[in-house]
Amino acid sequence: MVVSQTNFAWATLLDVGPPGRGGRRLHDRLAHALRAAIRDGRLVEGAAVPPSRALAEEFGCSRWVVTEAYGQLVAEGYLAARVGSATRVSWSPDAVASPPRTPRAPEPAPVRYDLAPGLPDVRAFPRRRWADAVRAVTGSAVHYDLGLPDRSGHAVLRTTVAEYLRRSRGADADAASVTVCAGVTDGLVRTCRALVAEGIADLAVEDPGWGRLRDAATSAGMRVHPVPVDHDGLRVDELARTPARAVVIGAAHQFPTGTVLSPGRRARLVRWAREVDGFVVEDDYDAEFRYDHHPVAVVQGMDPGRVFLLGSVSKTLSPALGLGWLVAPAATTRALRAANPVAAAPPVLDQLALATFIDRGWYDAHLRAARRRFRARRDLLVRTLADLVPEGRVSGTAAGLHVLLHLPDDADTGGAVRDAAAAGLRLTDLDDYRVEGSAERALVLGYGNISDTEIPTAVALLREALRPTCPP
Ligand SMILES: Cc1ncc(COP(=O)(O)O)c(C=O)c1O
Repeated sequence: MVVSQTNFAWATLLDVGPPGRGGRRLHDRLAHALRAAIRDGRLVEGAAVPPSRALAEEFGCSRWVVTEAYGQLVAEGYLAARVGSATRVSWSPDAVASPPRTPRAPEPAPVRYDLAPGLPDVRAFPRRRWADAVRAVTGSAVHYDLGLPDRSGHAVLRTTVAEYLRRSRGADADAASVTVCAGVTDGLVRTCRALVAEGIADLAVEDPGWGRLRDAATSAGMRVHPVPVDHDGLRVDELARTPARAVVIGAAHQFPTGTVLSPGRRARLVRWAREVDGFVVEDDYDAEFRYDHHPVAVVQGMDPGRVFLLGSVSKTLSPALGLGWLVAPAATTRALRAANPVAAAPPVLDQLALATFIDRGWYDAHLRAARRRFRARRDLLVRTLADLVPEGRVSGTAAGLHVLLHLPDDADTGGAVRDAAAAGLRLTDLDDYRVEGSAERALVLGYGNISDTEIPTAVALLREALRPTCPP
């Protein structure tokens, strides 16, 4: 019903509904009903609304209720009131261009089994202890903590992170060198902005590597130069082929190949940074998870003046927390701040909760349990792959949350990813992480976000998806 005159039952048109749980008063509900009628075109532009006295009678309310509602809509521009004449609708939905409708893409099959890399075991998130930490800091935070936050991060968390990185990662860090940020990606954007401001606009990246890091760097104004990775990690000798004076590298566990940068290359990498008067940006994203022996220490400890160290809790707790850190060379801290004038640290209470979680030993306990769980799950995955996909070969150090499954040259990995998705299994093709193409066929299999009991079915589905081009 489109209305352009006032001779009909307004109570029918304007459904003011019951007061509801929010206890909204009648004038609010009347304004809401009028606004809805105008927005959806039932009351057209130019239509007169009834005099307030008449509408009040119809609704059995005071005239004040109606004048309040009209006044609200006049203020919002939906009605126009003129002295001596009726109040009229002054807005039309046509005034707002409606976006063109795009046909909906067909819904993808729901993911029942997830063998894609990226997530930790979010089912095992330590909810109770995290809640305890949040409760503790919410009760104990002093008034000062609830004022304007320090953009570099709360001093308590910076101190705790520095101590954690010194003892567990062999880093050279103190509170002053730590910036709390939203994660590795955020830390890289901040670092790249600082490098660009210092005149370094070319960044070498590992190939294959995580595309988001490339995107983060280019979004900060850098040009990226892919450098190959082999079984010893980044080909450090290839850096000289590029104009780059900075490189971002996963030294402890390269993503996605799972290699560890060899001792010789670690030393050569630092030498390169000194020779070109440049920097290494170390992505220490999942180094806590090493199953065959202790994690290798960070390269940052070898030359803290040349290495930025980035880390986060995305792989250890959950990416949903959005908490990470950036340890910067002392000479760059001023540039880092200046190049990121509006970058803010994550919410202070979350930062304090993480500090409490670490200081009370709960982070270490969580990591110990997670390491045990992931080691067993990795073994189970590797065994099941050997049984069901014997033509494949697994590579990657016993570390992190993923392995590489190499397949014969004629395997159609892209087709397998699509077929598996239709059966509810999420897989990832190694090609998705490459800049330069390669004939090598491989899948990157993550085991963080899948339960042990699901692994046999997931690998059986993988077997089926490979069958057309890669029969057993
Ligand atoms: C190679 C690599 N680095 C870093 C991260 C973590 O990024 P963030 O801390 O921004 O969540 C990930 C997460 O998937 C990753 O794969």
